Amino acid sequence: MNNRNSAGAIDSHTILYGVFGDPVHHSKSPVMMNAAFREFGINAAYAAFHVKPDRLRDAVCGIRALGFRGVNVTIPHKVEVMNYLDEVDEAASIIGAVNTIVNENGRLTGYNTDGIGYVRSLKTETGCDLRGKRIVVIGAGGAARGVVYALAREGPASIRIANRTRDKAAELAKDMSAFADCSGINMEELSAISDADLLLNTTSVGMHPHKDQVPAANIRYRPGMIVSDLIYNPLETRWLQLAGQAGAIVHRGLGMFIYQGAYAFEYWTGRPAPVEVMREAVMRSLQIPAE
Ligand code: ATR
Repeated sequence: MNNRNSAGAIDSHTILYGVFGDPVHHSKSPVMMNAAFREFGINAAYAAFHVKPDRLRDAVCGIRALGFRGVNVTIPHKVEVMNYLDEVDEAASIIGAVNTIVNENGRLTGYNTDGIGYVRSLKTETGCDLRGKRIVVIGAGGAARGVVYALAREGPASIRIANRTRDKAAELAKDMSAFADCSGINMEELSAISDADLLLNTTSVGMHPHKDQVPAANIRYRPGMIVSDLIYNPLETRWLQLAGQAGAIVHRGLGMFIYQGAYAFEYWTGRPAPVEVMREAVMRSLQIPAE
């Protein structure tokens, strides 16, 4: 069995995977994905590759030349990489970004697992059903695009998008309007919203080291409302703490990272990902006791 290796040793049958980014050495993907391969005794190795933007094309050629089975792509390459692939799946092309590449006998296809990873995390961790729900999203950058697309496919009643730069919110709403009732709103309008079922921060406001900042103040939190943040450093943002204190159901950002990796694992191997093993590996490397 060439592709099984329960001892975890690299040998001449090892199937290669990696993540391309700049910077990349902070990435938790190698720890997470190698734990998943080990769990199933798959003879595979996943490493981090520091690829500068001017070498991205060469790096993608290297996937074909060296026969890597799969690669994740992170900041700042998620948009540019689309130019070097043989095919981009429909969702990734609507989102405008690829984070996962599958190599099928030298033919490279790009996918976006960020948004669907977010939705799977949200549904698994809160048990919510998004059909008919009123969703409010803060931010309209790259992360928001994947998440809004995936949310729109779940059949919500509406998605309102608030962004510091109002035009970007309107543009994202327009791009996603074929899939759901989407509109752009002003940041000031957030404080008047009292009917949101899900309120989600996709901006970097509140991320380490600016842990005391919140993406929006004067929010009308209410019991039963889900408040969600894509940030996972800190694990629970100040904004989520405030929402929790006000009785909202809190959904943290780490799950999106875990599940985007779970989808990538499933595309590459055709097996259900060992999600809890992956989560534990990441928590351990963040030195947080598993809950
Ligand atoms: P990402 O890929 O993480 O989404 P991005 O594409 O640069 O990164 O988008 C960052 C998002 O965070 C944007 O919505 C940005 O708002 P603008 O479009 O107005 O730039 C938002 N953002 C970043 N810093 C912010 C801040 N200090 N206050 C409000 N919004 C902020």
